[in-house]
Amino acid sequence: MTPRPASSPIDTSRPHPARVYDYLLGGKDNYPVDQELGAQMPPVAKAGVAQNRAFMHRAVGWAARTGIDQFLDIGTGIPTRPNLHQIAQEINPAARIVYTDNDPIVLRHAEALLISTPEGATDYLDADVREPGRILDHARALLDFDRPIALSLIALMHFVPDADDPYGITRTLVDALPSGSCLVLSHFTSDFLSAAQDKTEEYRTSGISLRPRTRAEVARFFDGLDLVGPGLVTAPQWCKDTPAPESDGATDSFHVGVARVLR
Ligand SMILES: C[S@@+](CC[C@H](N)C(=O)[O-])C[C@H]1O[C@@H](n2cnc3c(N)ncnc32)[C@H](O)[C@@H]1O
Repeated sequence: MTPRPASSPIDTSRPHPARVYDYLLGGKDNYPVDQELGAQMPPVAKAGVAQNRAFMHRAVGWAARTGIDQFLDIGTGIPTRPNLHQIAQEINPAARIVYTDNDPIVLRHAEALLISTPEGATDYLDADVREPGRILDHARALLDFDRPIALSLIALMHFVPDADDPYGITRTLVDALPSGSCLVLSHFTSDFLSAAQDKTEEYRTSGISLRPRTRAEVARFFDGLDLVGPGLVTAPQWCKDTPAPESDGATDSFHVGVARVLR
C-alpha cells in the first residue's frame, strides 16, 4: 500500500468509517455524507455499535484488572468518553496506551486521547493497520515489549479486505507480543442479519470496503491463542460483569473475543 501523506486533509466528499461510527453512536464529529450513509442503516446498527463499545469497556477493564498495564489500540476511532485510556487508567493510573488510526479526523482529535494521568502515558500514531511493522516500531518507544501488552483490534479488521491479508497482519502484531499479553478483537458479522438488515453493499457503494466475516472466519484471528471467558461470542454475551445494552440475540452484529498469548 502507499502510505498517506502525514497531513491528509479531511475528505468530506465521501463517508469514512470513523465518522459513520461516530454518527451511529450519536456523536457530532461527522459530515452530511456520513449521516446519509448512517441514516440508511437499520435500527439494529445503532444497537450493534453500542454493544461493541460496551464490549470494549468490559474487555479493557478485564485486561487492566488482570494486571496488564500496556495497551496498543489500533483503529481507535473518534474519541468517545470513556476512551480506552480512561477505562484502563481508572483501574491502574500508571497504564500506558498507544493509539493508532488512519483517519485524518481521528488525528485531528488526538489531543483528547493524549490527556493521560500524570502516572501513566498515552501516545497517538497516524498509521494504517496494514503497516504493522511501522506501528510496532513506534509503539516500542512507549511500551515495554518484554512485559504483557493488550493489543486491541476493535471493530477494525472488517475494513481490511481478504486481499490485504488481515490474518497475516494480525499474526505479525501478535507475534511481536510477549507471553502473558492478550488480543482483544471484535469484528462485524452479518451472520444474524436478515437480507434487509445487511447494508454491506451500501457501505461498498459509498467507497468503504466492508468485509463482514462469519464466526468461523473470525475464529481464525485467534488461531494459536487461548480464548478466555466465554470464548468467541457475540458482543453482549462477553463476560456480562458490567451493564451492557440489552440484546435479543437476533440482531447481534459483532463476534468478539479476548485471548491470551501464551508461549
Ligand atoms: C468502527 S470504528 C471503531 C472505533 C473503536 N475501535 C471502537 O470500537 O469503538 C473503526 C476505526 O478503524 C479505523 N480504520 C479503518 N481502517 C483502518 C486501517 N486500515 N488502519 C487503521 N485504522 C483503520 C477507522 O478510521 C475507524 O476510526
